[in-house]
Amino acid sequence: MAQSQVSRLYSANVTHWDRMAQDIDQTPWGIAGMNIWKKLLPHVLQAAPFNKETSEVMDFGCGNGFNSSLLVPHSKSILGVDISSGMVDEYNRNMERWGLAEEGKFSAVRADLHEDGSSFAGKRFDIIFSCMVYHHLPSIHVTTKTLATYLKPGGYLLVMDWKKPEGEQPNYSDPINNIVKLPGLDESDMKNAFESAQLEFVGYNGEAATMDEMVGDYHLKNTAFVSWGKNDSPASTRM
Ligand SMILES: C[S@@+](CC[C@H](N)C(=O)[O-])C[C@H]1O[C@@H](n2cnc3c(N)ncnc32)[C@H](O)[C@@H]1O
Repeated sequence: MAQSQVSRLYSANVTHWDRMAQDIDQTPWGIAGMNIWKKLLPHVLQAAPFNKETSEVMDFGCGNGFNSSLLVPHSKSILGVDISSGMVDEYNRNMERWGLAEEGKFSAVRADLHEDGSSFAGKRFDIIFSCMVYHHLPSIHVTTKTLATYLKPGGYLLVMDWKKPEGEQPNYSDPINNIVKLPGLDESDMKNAFESAQLEFVGYNGEAATMDEMVGDYHLKNTAFVSWGKNDSPASTRM
């Protein structure tokens, strides 16, 4: 992807998600997103060893915090990271509203992980998860490599997203077209991304959440996968 296209996709995502952020949980897509996460959650908890006493977790592309909120009972801390300051504000507002803020243990920051000098540079996580973000990224390979550098030795990366559709491709209208890079990903896409980030590719569940419902006037008929990998290197791979 040319640098100008990368910048355009990035800016379109920031603009879109900033505009959508406030009270997104009351919109048709926000409600659909929560339904998807509720279906994915049991698979997520099975894939990685979440531990309330010890697990330091990152939610990459955290959105409004609903996903993190359901993992609070299984995590010592969760840091939400998102490029949209609107989403980060919504995440932090929701954690307060839901009584989960707990002295900053469950909070979000606006950051572009590909830039140096983030406020949490040097921090490492036991588990990083990312839900419905990969299809918005300019390069899943670049981002997976970056996320791998934030894992502790033995840490897990979990990625959830749409399976690459067979046959008829989804017909998104504007502005969704401008913020989506790929309609979905299959097992080999995920295996390649994990392995090129030097992570062990541990598993892929291609039937984790099947959706067949109207979202506004769009017929959402698709399946979301859970894929996961592990940082097997004895020391952190971060440069
Ligand atoms: C479809 S929403 C998913 C939000 C949340 N993970 C969920 O499942 O409800 C996509 C999220 O990814 C964020 N995002 C898009 N591109 C990103 C990037 N390059 N880096 C970090 N976050 C990104 C958006 O701001 C938005 O919050």
